[in-house]
Amino acid sequence: MTSLSVNSGRLLADIHELGAIGRETDGRLTRLALSDADRLGRDHLVARIRAAGLEVAIDQIGNIFGIWTQDRHADQKPVLLGSHIDTVINAGIYDGCYGVIAGLEVIRTLREAGFTPPRPIAVAAFTNEEGVRFSPDMMGSLVYAGGLDIKKALATRGTDGTVLADELVRIGYAGPYAPGFLAPHAYVELHIEQGPVLEHIGSSIGAVADLQGISWQRITIEGQANHAGTTPMALRRDAGHAAARIMTFIHDRASRPDTSGVATVGTIAFEPNAINVIPARATLTIDLRNPDENRLVEEEDALSRFLSHLQATGDVKIHVEKLARSAPVRFDPRIVALIEDVASRRGLASRRMTSGAGHDAQMIAGMAPAAMIFVPSRLGISHNPEEFTSDEALVAGANVLLDVVRHLAHET
Ligand code: HGY
Ligand code: MN
Ligand code: MN
Repeated sequence: MTSLSVNSGRLLADIHELGAIGRETDGRLTRLALSDADRLGRDHLVARIRAAGLEVAIDQIGNIFGIWTQDRHADQKPVLLGSHIDTVINAGIYDGCYGVIAGLEVIRTLREAGFTPPRPIAVAAFTNEEGVRFSPDMMGSLVYAGGLDIKKALATRGTDGTVLADELVRIGYAGPYAPGFLAPHAYVELHIEQGPVLEHIGSSIGAVADLQGISWQRITIEGQANHAGTTPMALRRDAGHAAARIMTFIHDRASRPDTSGVATVGTIAFEPNAINVIPARATLTIDLRNPDENRLVEEEDALSRFLSHLQATGDVKIHVEKLARSAPVRFDPRIVALIEDVASRRGLASRRMTSGAGHDAQMIAGMAPAAMIFVPSRLGISHNPEEFTSDEALVAGANVLLDVVRHLAHET
């Protein structure tokens, strides 16, 4: 296979251009799914896809596709690349966006090189990967792969009370295509690692063999507002203290030396949230993850027992809402091995690894052979404006993606 490389200047410029879109007045980057900022990012991406000469297709959950179809092979299943361009709050510029821009750059490079693949090649930007505003996360790819009914997804109410379908129409991305309209031959997602492993061991490429299970819950604790000064400790129905005990419980369990899981309380709110009022209500979210499904179920069960124990004291009432749940996913070993082989041919050290983060690839793996390529994150930082990956690593990852795509496109 003749050696080809992406246009590194164009790749890096596109990453930074997209990274400049959707910034708040204080400079923070926040493009929550289906927000006005997300629309600006989407419009920018669609313009880039069109400028590359690809067909643009939007499906009913707002997933965006750029499709390079060779007329004589339109009946063949495409090789699909992609990721997401929605972000968390106060985000970095690489999470998700890198994989979408690199996928587009790979297609542009192949077209410019006169490559005539026997299969179409497409790039996708999946809706609502982050799940910050609308649960579950990886929603667009989950619907696409048939894991969530489109009507249920469209009816989802966001943390701001909006309905997903209304927001999709409002930003102009309620597309006509049925989810799953393009059945991939294979799916490869390039992404920053968002963790410390590759940098720590000095490897340039992660060949992601599997991805851990994820369990998201929202817990609402009902206590009783009362005076902070006059209410004896023994007579309190303190929802805030119950929330603190839950946070400590899951943190201590996940911190045991023998556990492979992690646990996070990323959001918490008290009502009425006043310095001298015992919280009447506490609402918090729990993010449990584990590479082993049985261990993840064990952690969910342990939490459930602890909540029952808290409620048995009679001080508080506890309501649990399941927000998202995905089992660990094993990626296609053949593609994982191809990633390692391609990296080595490019003289890049690679490391087979598990993804700690959720990704669209875990959903698309339910409908086609799928795998992921990671590049190092500086200090392992992500979901943070300090998120950074060197230009050299970004280009190396895109070139590995390019070679993997060329192999997959020729598979019969
Ligand atoms: O939560 C995750 O792992 C992903 O960033 N949505
Ligand atoms: Mn991501
Ligand atoms: Mn993310």
